[in-house]
Amino acid sequence: MSNEKRDSWGSRSQFILASIGSAVGLGNAWRFPGLAAKHGGGAFLLVYLLAMLVIGIPFLMMEISIGRKMHRGVPGALRAIKKPTEAVGWFAVSNAFVISVYYAVVFAWVIMMAFASFKFAGLTGDCDSASGLWASLIKTTGTTSGYRTISLPVLGCLVVAWVLIYACIRNGPNTVGKVVKYTVFLPVVCLLILAIKGMLMPGAVAGLTKFFVPDFSSLASADIWIDAIGQVFYSLSIMMAIMVAYGSFLDEKSNIATDSIIIAFSDFAISVLSGIVLFTTMSGTGQLENMTASGIGTAFIVYPQSIVLLTNNGVANAIFAFVFYFCLCTLAIDSAFSIIEGVSTAIADKFHLSHKKTTLVLCIIASVLSLWFITGAGLAWLDIVDNWCNAYSLILVGVFEAITIGWLFDPKKVLKEVNRNTTSFKMPGWWFVISIKFFAPIALTGFFIWNIVTLIKSGGVYGAADGYSVAANIIGGWLVLGLCMFSGFIVKIVEKCAAKKGYKPDEDVWEDTAE
Ligand code: PHE
Repeated sequence: MSNEKRDSWGSRSQFILASIGSAVGLGNAWRFPGLAAKHGGGAFLLVYLLAMLVIGIPFLMMEISIGRKMHRGVPGALRAIKKPTEAVGWFAVSNAFVISVYYAVVFAWVIMMAFASFKFAGLTGDCDSASGLWASLIKTTGTTSGYRTISLPVLGCLVVAWVLIYACIRNGPNTVGKVVKYTVFLPVVCLLILAIKGMLMPGAVAGLTKFFVPDFSSLASADIWIDAIGQVFYSLSIMMAIMVAYGSFLDEKSNIATDSIIIAFSDFAISVLSGIVLFTTMSGTGQLENMTASGIGTAFIVYPQSIVLLTNNGVANAIFAFVFYFCLCTLAIDSAFSIIEGVSTAIADKFHLSHKKTTLVLCIIASVLSLWFITGAGLAWLDIVDNWCNAYSLILVGVFEAITIGWLFDPKKVLKEVNRNTTSFKMPGWWFVISIKFFAPIALTGFFIWNIVTLIKSGGVYGAADGYSVAANIIGGWLVLGLCMFSGFIVKIVEKCAAKKGYKPDEDVWEDTAE
């Protein structure tokens, strides 16, 4: 292994907090409660928990431990395991890069809504204006055409978003470790305030009943299982190059088995807390039935309707609106920077570049690309790119990673890494091996096929009913997917050119650690 000095976490808690910060994001705040509303409340909670235990946690442990073992981002770690599988790592990295481009835009929207929350003061009881506020601010056409207009307020917030993201990761784990002390606890405080307000509302019990009491008839549909597995992977930030990068900054003494359990359960707890906030507030304001499985719809269209009905006092409503959107900002920021950090670590490791400069260049490129999503057509394009990244690319990355470790390598060797230094909880072999070899690849392949079949059944064009064009599907969907999938070849070409100038790739290989 090359012995240049690698950045590392200042302490165990920094690593745990950074990982929780990455895992806990907008997905917990709006996607999880939305899915629970769609799938019979408590029934979804149970299925989610099962999917987290059976597939999510072993996968999380696997990613962190290959990062720690090789002290490399995901392409480098996989290369050391089996050379050609480096390409799987680049697939993960490029897909993560694409996600970072549009996630920053969603982050900019929440910043904008935090600033615009004073507007709620003048809208008491006016649900129609409240629900249209966001769409009018982002100036969306709702379709894939109209890219000549740009929303200035969003542009301003996008600049703020990128500056904040860069500031948090400019020195890698050194700065991340410091920032996460705030970005992990602040949203919890905000969510607690909102949960207390929600529980004091008259409809709270009905909301809580809907959220917690399982409707077992939902278990019969395949949808609930598919959605739960998808949400587990999305929420734990796995297959996004992040956890391998965060693992690569760990020292040898770290206790991966226990830390992964802490990370996964904290993430789950915050999802449940967000569920309590949304279900009680929506129920208290008579909006429960309007909750949608689409996160964006819930956070920017339906929740504002609840805000203006919270009290009869406009200023009090505006304050709650601010707390809510500020909370979303603090939730989003550490997810947004973690994903750039994963990409930056992979590239800097591969080409022996300065981490700091790589991060800066990446932030500049990503911020320019993100301008596309703040045009009039941006929302529709964002929806398309997001759909392909999550429904296809991410899932394929997961299948390839699981096959690499489960079949081309030996999951027992990875398990040994997971359990190294563990004195209390040890990850049982059967749980880990069966999950990585069988459950994860089978579930993810099923998920992938399901998504393709659903698309074909609906006519083959995603969002056709909303006016999304075929061209946008091809460019924003299939082309981006293809580029990500074959990014390993692009890296190979760059590597060949760099080799002419004296560049030498790492030739580290996985060597089993002595007992
Ligand atoms: N776990 C994040 C969430 O729930 C998902 C994510 C992480 C998205 C990092 C983007 C970047 O929101």
